[in-house]
Amino acid sequence: MVRTVSINGPDHRTSSVGAVTDAAKRFYVTTPIYYVNAEPHLGHAYTTIIGDALTRWHRLLGDDVKFLTGTDEHGLKIQQAAEAAGLSPQDFTDSIAPKFVEAWKRLNIANDDFIRTTEPRHKAAVAEILQRCYDAGDIELDVFQGLYCVPCELYYSEDELIQPGNLCPIHQRPVEYFEEENYFFRLSRFEDRLLDWYAKHPTAMKPEHRGNEALGLIRGGLRDFSISRTSIQWGIPLPWDPKHVTYVWFDALTNYLAAVGYGQASDAGTGTNGNGSYEDWWPADYHLIGKDIVRQHCVYWPAMLMSAGIEPPKGWAIGGWLLSGGEKMSKTSGNVVNPLDLIDEVGLDGFRYYVLADTAYGNDGDFTYEGLVARYNSDLANNLGNLLARVATVVGKKCDGVGTRPDPSSPLAAVAATAYTDTVAGWDIVQPSRALDATWQLIRATNGHLEANEPWKAEPGPDVDRVMGDALEALRIVAILVQPAMPDAAQAVWERIGMTGQVGDQRLPDAAAWGQYAGGVAVTKGDALFPRLTV
Ligand code: MSP
Repeated sequence: MVRTVSINGPDHRTSSVGAVTDAAKRFYVTTPIYYVNAEPHLGHAYTTIIGDALTRWHRLLGDDVKFLTGTDEHGLKIQQAAEAAGLSPQDFTDSIAPKFVEAWKRLNIANDDFIRTTEPRHKAAVAEILQRCYDAGDIELDVFQGLYCVPCELYYSEDELIQPGNLCPIHQRPVEYFEEENYFFRLSRFEDRLLDWYAKHPTAMKPEHRGNEALGLIRGGLRDFSISRTSIQWGIPLPWDPKHVTYVWFDALTNYLAAVGYGQASDAGTGTNGNGSYEDWWPADYHLIGKDIVRQHCVYWPAMLMSAGIEPPKGWAIGGWLLSGGEKMSKTSGNVVNPLDLIDEVGLDGFRYYVLADTAYGNDGDFTYEGLVARYNSDLANNLGNLLARVATVVGKKCDGVGTRPDPSSPLAAVAATAYTDTVAGWDIVQPSRALDATWQLIRATNGHLEANEPWKAEPGPDVDRVMGDALEALRIVAILVQPAMPDAAQAVWERIGMTGQVGDQRLPDAAAWGQYAGGVAVTKGDALFPRLTV
């Protein structure tokens, strides 16, 4: 397979610099596993859609991708939610986990695996990593007294809390006082090792400002953290002292290893695409996480892995929150938006596009219905949808409805090349909004090319054919580049311009090279792909 590399490093494939040949690269990306005390909401959908689009992008690049998501089902928070629902924890989690599976299906999420922390493969992996860290001497028994936030499943010190009132900085509600004998993970021993590792991997955490927050946590000094409880039953027992169950984060984080077969005798648990074992997939390429779980993912997790003799992941992509009315959307705040309701309003791909394009990943985004409609109308109805409709109309009127060939030296060729390079660069740093904006440069330029040439006013002939060929070729490239964000809409564009097969089966960079639209095929108008909406 042919690959091109840029000066930025071997992972940055652009069309600008020389070609190299290599085997399909494995790309392993994960979302956080979601607590089952709440039903799926827009905040959960946000990270999952980013992961899905990144997955599809890497498939276009020809990578062998594994995309993992799942549910986090142990801990006090779930135990309490089960009690409130009058169910056993297992029955309760069994009733909620399928709602996530179902929601991701409706959002066209192409995950290869869905892990539940109540599965045997997960429990086996947790037992294995615990034992390794214990054998390494990094887990020790101690008595703990502290202030605990149940929604966070974290102990806090008083200076980390909002005063007066010992309020959790995330949930803004009082924490609880707990005292018990706990096993501790000796995180304090890992300060230098973590800082050394991050110094050698300076771009591992993206975007940079979020990575700096994590480094600040390490530099600020690391305290040992409790990893077990005796007061709750709903969890995975410590292999060497089963009256303790492991603390929720030690349990949850290990899902990323469990899903690629860590701690299992055979290669069971490698996911639905079943290829490869733990060593083939680990270290993961990206953990996609929200900014509220940076401490656990970027500090605890690599330290746990180092203790167990496992390499830390290659990357973390840290997102902000989607706010609703200025607050993090969450069950506790009572301001959740059900993503499935929004699909009815703007269509599945309209919704996916909004989530990906409207907020720079890493920053907070403010969700409003008006913002959703405005983004949809400007980018989808007025730009992409309008381009597709006018091209089909003019080809219908001036070219007998048959697609024509592009001009090899069209001014749009250079625009397409830049759009491609910039789209690659956007995905490379996990900035879908930048990648999409780069693609939209080509859409806008193509609309501009049509307006400059006004083929609708000209007599049919070679000039009109060339301009329409250019626009059709631009749409072919656009269909490929937007496919990760809008798989169905991209396929519709692909078919309407007369292309056959699946747009998702195209392979980059080759498929993005200018001049491949062969013409001679029927171009169909169809209904508006993105009908204009009123608020
Ligand atoms: N179960 C833990 C994660 C364990 S991963 C080993 C957890 N679950 S969660 O359901 O509370 O949140 C999961 C993710 O969803 C977090 O990354 C969080 O940031 C994200 N979001 C939840 N609400 C959100 C918004 N309103 N906006 C964006 N993302 C948010 O934490």
